[in-house]
Amino acid sequence: MRVAIVGATGLVGGTFLKVLEERDLGITDLLLFASSRSAGKKINFRGKEYTVEELNENSFKNRDIDIALFSAGGGTSLKYAPLAAKEGVLVIDNSSAWRMDKEVPLVVPEVNPEEAFKHKGIIANPNCSTIQCMAPLKVLEKYGIKRVVYSTYQAVSGTGYKGVIDLEEGLKGNPPKTYPHQIVNNCLPHIDVFLEDGYTKEEKKMVDETRKILGLPNLPVTATCVRVPVINSHSVSINVELEKDFDLETVKKELAEYKGIVLLDDSNKNIYPLANDATGKDEVFVGRVRRDNSVKYGLNLWTVADNIRKGAATNAVQIAELFCKNI
Ligand code: A2P
Repeated sequence: MRVAIVGATGLVGGTFLKVLEERDLGITDLLLFASSRSAGKKINFRGKEYTVEELNENSFKNRDIDIALFSAGGGTSLKYAPLAAKEGVLVIDNSSAWRMDKEVPLVVPEVNPEEAFKHKGIIANPNCSTIQCMAPLKVLEKYGIKRVVYSTYQAVSGTGYKGVIDLEEGLKGNPPKTYPHQIVNNCLPHIDVFLEDGYTKEEKKMVDETRKILGLPNLPVTATCVRVPVINSHSVSINVELEKDFDLETVKKELAEYKGIVLLDDSNKNIYPLANDATGKDEVFVGRVRRDNSVKYGLNLWTVADNIRKGAATNAVQIAELFCKNI
């Protein structure tokens, strides 16, 4: 299998390489693309040196590439993903550019793998905060999901290297270059741009993508997305209202047994998911599972996942793995 990585020098791009090194996709050749700034840079993969190429209109022509993992921003994906698909490359795109396109499947492999096979050349990787909420909500689907309220606590790595630099420099007393306010000692209720209705684009992504992935186009969902001074791993509080009654211990068991979920829920021992513990892992950690007594059948849960791995690179590689035997 010949795999290309677009945005190979970025935070997610580097993690694509790490995850690909850990898993066996049967890669026979690797092509690395980034902007002109990085052309010529050498990157090591499994003991072999690869040279980063500048991405251009001809990058995918006659290169016999099977799969291209994109994480180089929405503009790059909008322009280059269709060019790659036209050359027969299966594009798995981490940007938000194609996620809501009706022709493009939006896939979390533990939740809706069957959608991936309906692709027409491009498959979208969902938003990082959305990904980690999908498996827990899938578990609750049998009780009828009536309404979802998300509150997120998102790490600076979600902004790429520049977010991490703002936090690290801020800790030395330097002003922010990327965020509109200092991130040190602050929580910024502002991720991506503001829309006319007062929500941010990140909040809209969580609403729209949840509906698309769960196949519930009219599901009432709302979100407040907050950037917090954490280097890596997003935390999300999920409040769910259900149609049917449930047994709390059964729900915990169902969460614990679901693929890709690790239940960490023992308040007597102060055990609950934490960003520090999730970093470097591929699972979604779930805890603080408790009834919401303000409604008839309500549930609160806390999820944490490595936003660069499960929230981006790992999820994309898991999508690629669905095709390993069929390509
Ligand atoms: P480069 O390092 O050459 O700028 P991050 O995760 O830090 O946001 O990284 C974004 C990735 O997208 C980097 O690999 C970056 O390459 C790449 N990138 C940004 N703009 C372009 C572009 N116009 N064409 C190709 N790659 C791009």
